[in-house]
Amino acid sequence: MLLQHTTWPEVGDYLESSKGIVVPIGSTEQHGPTGLIGTDALAAEVIAKRVGEDAKALVAPTISYGMAQHHMAFTGTVTLQPSTLILVVRDVVTSLVRHGFERFFFINGHGGNIAPVNTAFSQIQVELAAARSSDGPGDETGRNAPPADVRCVMKNWWMGEKTTKLREELYGDKEGSHATPSEVAVTWHAFPDQQRDLPLDPIEPVRRSFHGPEDYRKLFPDGRMGADPSLATPEHGRRLVEVATAELASAYEEFLADD
Ligand code: NI
Repeated sequence: MLLQHTTWPEVGDYLESSKGIVVPIGSTEQHGPTGLIGTDALAAEVIAKRVGEDAKALVAPTISYGMAQHHMAFTGTVTLQPSTLILVVRDVVTSLVRHGFERFFFINGHGGNIAPVNTAFSQIQVELAAARSSDGPGDETGRNAPPADVRCVMKNWWMGEKTTKLREELYGDKEGSHATPSEVAVTWHAFPDQQRDLPLDPIEPVRRSFHGPEDYRKLFPDGRMGADPSLATPEHGRRLVEVATAELASAYEEFLADD
């Protein structure tokens, strides 16, 4: 069930049976000469929607912009500052907390989001605790105090045990770490008319970590990091979506059941 396709009374009904919500988050950034600019957001969204169906969870709109400063030397990339992304995540979560949601399961498609999103989760806990201490015990009714047990987690769709194993089986050391054949395969499965078939230069080995956008482009001239996305097929993408969905749906259910 998609939050965007529900009405406000229906959200209220949902909250009677569950306090959980799935939040896809990605990025809008270059993915080499053959990968779509939307790869990270599209992959997270495709998988999150499937998780929502399997786990009967509400799925929030995808946060499609992420922290992509290191890709800014490539046309089409859009980045949020880390501090902006922290506030976007905080505002989305605290809005939904106000309506009664307490379990936030982020499905992430982009490595650059990991640090700011986890920082946002800490910020949210700081602010909720401060609001409880000022409004909660001191408030005559306590009704305005935020709930005591809001939890946020983030799962990178490609990092589950079985998903990692399938990526290794399919691509070995050609998987690389950006514009990977696995993420490209997921988008080609979901959007078969968006496949690109272009010759690619040999893979540049990943020699060291990158810094700013110009340094990234110097190290990785066509945008890929150690990856050979020409190995991607829509059928691989279908298998990856299946495996990732199963892992994430059970992780979501465990997250809701945790004491
Ligand atoms: Ni990506």
